[in-house]
Amino acid sequence: MIQFLLNRELRSEHALDPNLTVLQYLREHLGKPGTKEGCASGDCGACTVVVGELQTDANGHDSLRYRSLNSCLTFVSSLHGKQLISVEDLKHKGQLHSVQQAMVDCHGSQCGFCTPGFVMSLFALQKNSADADVHQAQEALAGNLCRCTGYRPILAAAEQSCCQATRAPDQFDSAQADTIAQLKAIAPSETGELNSGDKRCLVPLTIGDLADLYGSHPEARLLAGGTDLALEVTQFHRTLPVMIYVGNVAELKRIEHLDDHIEIGAATPLTDCYGALSAEYPDFGELLHRFASLQIRNQGTLGGNIGNASPIGDSPPLLIALGAQIVLRKGDSTRTLALEDYFIDYRITARQESEFIEKVIVPRASAKRAFRAYKVSKRLDDDISAVCAAFSLQVEQGLITDARAAFGGMAAIPKRAKACEAALVGKAWNNATLEAACAALADDFSPLSDFRASKEYRLLSAQNLLRKYFIELQTPHIETRVTAYV
Ligand code: FES
Ligand code: FES
Repeated sequence: MIQFLLNRELRSEHALDPNLTVLQYLREHLGKPGTKEGCASGDCGACTVVVGELQTDANGHDSLRYRSLNSCLTFVSSLHGKQLISVEDLKHKGQLHSVQQAMVDCHGSQCGFCTPGFVMSLFALQKNSADADVHQAQEALAGNLCRCTGYRPILAAAEQSCCQATRAPDQFDSAQADTIAQLKAIAPSETGELNSGDKRCLVPLTIGDLADLYGSHPEARLLAGGTDLALEVTQFHRTLPVMIYVGNVAELKRIEHLDDHIEIGAATPLTDCYGALSAEYPDFGELLHRFASLQIRNQGTLGGNIGNASPIGDSPPLLIALGAQIVLRKGDSTRTLALEDYFIDYRITARQESEFIEKVIVPRASAKRAFRAYKVSKRLDDDISAVCAAFSLQVEQGLITDARAAFGGMAAIPKRAKACEAALVGKAWNNATLEAACAALADDFSPLSDFRASKEYRLLSAQNLLRKYFIELQTPHIETRVTAYV
């Protein structure tokens, strides 16, 4: 059984198809059609809902954390122990919620398909920020597409409802203590399960239980954020017979700062990785902003982005350039692997049966190394890279003593550019070395042509990004990074 709050109402579910998305659950099982389906692939934001979670700080103080999610990519099993808020829950005692009223006042709505998603993103913004600025509003709305009204009136609605420090408390604020008590009362104490016929999703709470379950169900698909896995169901109409949801395993969501490295649990959402990674590596933070929409970053995890081994996943090139490692676990045994050795061929990894990524180990920044990352995509926000590049060089007294260069979108796997690195190490950091290293990239990669970019474009972009890195290091006041477009 799994339990969660539908706004304030307790729901207990057992016999549901675990392939059911929250969007389908709301519309088809509960008769709540306010949440809309636009793309069913995480691109449009029409299906945005807000999920509340209990969080307890180091002093034992409880609070609620609200995140906007794409319900089309969220399986119902991931709601276990949480609060689901949909657009139907916002109107209270006959009065529109302040974010809804702002959309009316500012003429931010026309078609009705995208508006519920915008409203829920604004609601999450209002809950997460006492006085949001325009940049936060743009970030909160970047994953919501409007094809007719335009964004100016919607941003005005954001300003009216989310950028005023004096706004009045709403029904969610008034009920906060009760909601916290309700969530504590349903806090999972054992593995949850959702099943229907021979389909099941298991929801373990500890890393030991996860290891045991995966050992007895090696055929299971691990479900973290689900932003990729759910597409198999919604886009390719497959059925996933056995899933194990890892998002309730506390050990997989820890971030620990140690003297020379940071350990990030594999199921840590990308939004939660932001603070740790951007503090050490500002370019990593910049890239996370452009990684995907806020809804996807709230859902997607660092371990998931590595685990699904996409050649165009954005975090692996950066992590490889940083020399990151992963800890893989099977049963009680763990092994540590350089991330670059995890990727073997297209979607083939070094992971063994019943083995899973436990955590990612990221070296801390060093004054000796210069790290930069770049993403080339057709659109600034919410787009997939044509090329993603990361460079980390150590230059001492004008000589390059160590070089790591890694790329996404250039091969079947995220990959180091070994020939390029060899052309750099031991050489003076000058134009001649740079051009030799750019030429060597042609030995490292034979990229594909697809709808994102041609092979020639990809190779030239990779070379130009290295040139850009060189210029930035020579003239550090130039801020041009992470802003390239195809
Ligand atoms: Fe488009 Fe979910 S329906 S993001
Ligand atoms: Fe719905 Fe613009 S108001 S697409």
